Amino acid sequence: RRVLHVASECYPLIKTGGLADVVGALPIALDETGAVESTVFLPGFPAVLAGLTGIKTYAKLTALDGSPVRLVSGTTQTGLSVIAADCDTLFGYDGNPYQLADGSDRPGNGIAFASFSKLAAQIATGINRKRGFDVLHAHDWQAGLAAAYLKTEGADVTTLFTIHNLAFQGLFPKELLASTGLPNSVFTEEGLEYWGKLSFLKSGVTYSDWVTTVSPTYALEIQMDEDGMGFGGLLRSRSDRLRGILNGVDQTVWDPATDPTIFAPFSASDLSGKAKNKAALQDELGLSRAAEGPLFCVISRLTGQKGLDLVPDMLDGIVARGGQMALLGSGDGVIEQAFLAAQKRHPDHVAVKIGYDEPFAHRLQAGADVILIPSRFEPCGLTQLCAMRYGTIPVTSRVGGLMDTVIGATPATQAVGAATGVTFHPVNPHMLWAAIDKSIALYANKFEWSQMVATAIAQDFGWTAPARDYLELYQT
Ligand code: ADP
Ligand code: GLC
Repeated sequence: RRVLHVASECYPLIKTGGLADVVGALPIALDETGAVESTVFLPGFPAVLAGLTGIKTYAKLTALDGSPVRLVSGTTQTGLSVIAADCDTLFGYDGNPYQLADGSDRPGNGIAFASFSKLAAQIATGINRKRGFDVLHAHDWQAGLAAAYLKTEGADVTTLFTIHNLAFQGLFPKELLASTGLPNSVFTEEGLEYWGKLSFLKSGVTYSDWVTTVSPTYALEIQMDEDGMGFGGLLRSRSDRLRGILNGVDQTVWDPATDPTIFAPFSASDLSGKAKNKAALQDELGLSRAAEGPLFCVISRLTGQKGLDLVPDMLDGIVARGGQMALLGSGDGVIEQAFLAAQKRHPDHVAVKIGYDEPFAHRLQAGADVILIPSRFEPCGLTQLCAMRYGTIPVTSRVGGLMDTVIGATPATQAVGAATGVTFHPVNPHMLWAAIDKSIALYANKFEWSQMVATAIAQDFGWTAPARDYLELYQT
């Protein structure tokens, strides 16, 4: 079976979040089943074209705005087959793929990603003498129109749409419809119309044969009115074709035994390197090595989704209890400033790095004791999975994929050695502090803590099982 993954990000070429990790790893895991041959279709951003080797022209087409497009094929360092749309007017910009430097949406997003989806549909049905694909697997709103193009043409391609985050709905003014080349008949409530606008996300949900999201709990949450973000009713109407398949982590990229970016290797059977990584991290960040409490870390987009606006107010309390905090992230300026202010107050105990830094994310996972993830909603979340693999205990809210992956410490789970983290709900300052406080107390109990670390690091969150679940869907 030939499967075309359609997405706007793919590790290691271009990444703003977990979507890239999934698109970089799932196709490889699917190929490893032996039943699938995967190709990833991406916009030809400069970083994408620069990262591919063996580039060849695949086909020449025209975008919806009349710009010439050169489709190229190539391979990533990780061995993934990629087709990219090289089109300077649509994708010839550096930086964040969807946003300008001030955080606002790029004005050209509508036509760029409509064109991208149209090209994906053309590739899937076959261009000239190039063979088409059996399955088009689209990820998030950027690829959402592909299913509309295929359905309205009656093409013989199975379509699957994965929702990585319902908050990003790809909403555009209805005037864009004329430029998409789609028939007016799609602009209805049963189609892709959403309160007078076009929703690329809705197109993916409505017109795809199957809809998946990235954890079983999120699949339930989004069918409720509270967490459905306006799409609850629509998703309920598709519940017979909606599945939650938990993400994995790339266990070769995230392996503390072989990770070249960390200070000392370690593994489940020999955890002695973990303390060396902590000391090296404290030195790197100018944090005191004398602190008695745990070293917390945060590796995240700094947004309301992630609940990180609540954390700055907890920092004085963490420091008072002997804990430390190292943060890596960027986003909301108010949140950034609040963390920076805490660093000023407690330079030996709080370290803040605003920005995006892949190797540093690895050093944090290796050196920290705890990762803090107080998300208000979380489709899956990958940092808690990486953390557990690095013996770092997640303190998380009980939502979405966090609920499906972290086993909170309770007398019952601790008695059988099943706990892998500390969980809380609902997300408010009081419950968050209670969870932080509990993790500090657990850390002080050497026996309890080492048992949790041992259980966490022994979890298997690889891609083998999820790839099998996707394969099963492709085969139905
Ligand atoms: P989301 O996709 O909602 O941002 P995930 O937890 O699914 O959240 O994925 C986030 C991914 O991005 C992880 O691989 C994480 O390590 C990485 N990441 C997030 N922020 C940063 C950062 N500032 N620097 C480096 N990596 C980051
Ligand atoms: C989204 C979600 C995150 C998920 C990722 C990959 O960015 O916010 O929870 O892990 O997609 O599926």
